[in-house]
Amino acid sequence: MTNSLDVAAIKKDFRVLDQVQNGRRLVFLDSAASSQRPVQVIDAMSDFYNSTYANVHRGVYRLAEESTNRYEHARRNVARFIGASNHNEIVFTKNATEAINLVAHSWGRTNLTAGDVVVVSMLDHHANIVPWQMLAAERAVEIRWIPVTDDGQLDLSDVDRLLDGAKVLAVTAMSNVTGAITQMDSLIASAKAAGAITVLDACQYVPHLPIDVDALGADFVAFSGHKMLGPSGIGVLWGRMELLESMPPFLGGGGMILNVTVDGFTPDAPPARFEAGTPPITEAVGLSAAIDYLDELGMEAVRAHEVSLTAYAMRKLTSELGDSLRILGPSEPAQRGGVLSIELEGVHAHDVSQVLDEHAVCIRPGHHCAKPLMRHFGVAATARASFYVYNDESDADALAEALVAARDFFAL
Ligand code: ALA
Repeated sequence: MTNSLDVAAIKKDFRVLDQVQNGRRLVFLDSAASSQRPVQVIDAMSDFYNSTYANVHRGVYRLAEESTNRYEHARRNVARFIGASNHNEIVFTKNATEAINLVAHSWGRTNLTAGDVVVVSMLDHHANIVPWQMLAAERAVEIRWIPVTDDGQLDLSDVDRLLDGAKVLAVTAMSNVTGAITQMDSLIASAKAAGAITVLDACQYVPHLPIDVDALGADFVAFSGHKMLGPSGIGVLWGRMELLESMPPFLGGGGMILNVTVDGFTPDAPPARFEAGTPPITEAVGLSAAIDYLDELGMEAVRAHEVSLTAYAMRKLTSELGDSLRILGPSEPAQRGGVLSIELEGVHAHDVSQVLDEHAVCIRPGHHCAKPLMRHFGVAATARASFYVYNDESDADALAEALVAARDFFAL
């Protein structure tokens, strides 16, 4: 393992990037929405289907036991990757949104009543806002908002007052719009001091930076497989065992009970308690293969690569586009992830995106499921380019060239 990535070699593992569009090589800059997956992940899933697949935790034939072993190995691999010493604290869900809904529904409806306070942030994705708003609407829970600074970071200047009397802090670990990385140690300590649990949306964090959930001190951490080189259809909720054990099931059905009688049911222990029905079995195998791939690269190296590429891209875009360009978020690359939300003066983000598509550059235009933040910045949409392990400076150059073309086209 070295501290730099061999991106030319990495690119070869992502066959989707081989294609040519309008005579240009495809430049994929939308990994914050969903990453691509390497052939190692696709092969692991295909091999599993071809050799091992059966339902898990049910059959006693050899194939079913091997399938269960692979599913449970994936759980252990996820736990190790995020620094969780107890693999039973890993709950597989459909996606990160479901993971957060699980917490709001199960922990929230058990512990929150009228007048209780949930603190969310203006930087958050709807996935860590709306579940709490649903709860607030249902039982008059108060929602307080952590504001953001002009450079798109959490404004923590008044956070102790906001957290005073709060029971939940629901916050992003890294913004999917500004890329700002949350100063989690101090914020989680403040939440603890106030007696609030912390629910971290780590969708943009876990794929890009090393994390140690045992050391972090948060209570719940949610992320998804498809943003970290794994398949869609699987998300992860890590929760502290004493909290998971105190929570009722979220969904009822097969696989989550110890017993069912005509009078009622007894739920199983976590994580089974929260995995009703047939789980995402092959997806877990794929996620585990994605983790092996990231491990091989080394998460320190992944982070170092993204800081350096983001710094390069910010310099390049600023020098090519000058005042016609605004990049939301911190100006210091070390404070952010590889997410560049761009406003091109006088050009709507969807128009930018369409011109970029002509240049075979894939980005996401829109509100990025963060409407309160968009409103704060006074914009309806941004054009967001986001980097991952298969991107390099040539991709940033292609982005700059396509943005210049968009600006010039609409200036006419
Ligand atoms: N949450 C994903 C994004 O930010 C879909 O684009």
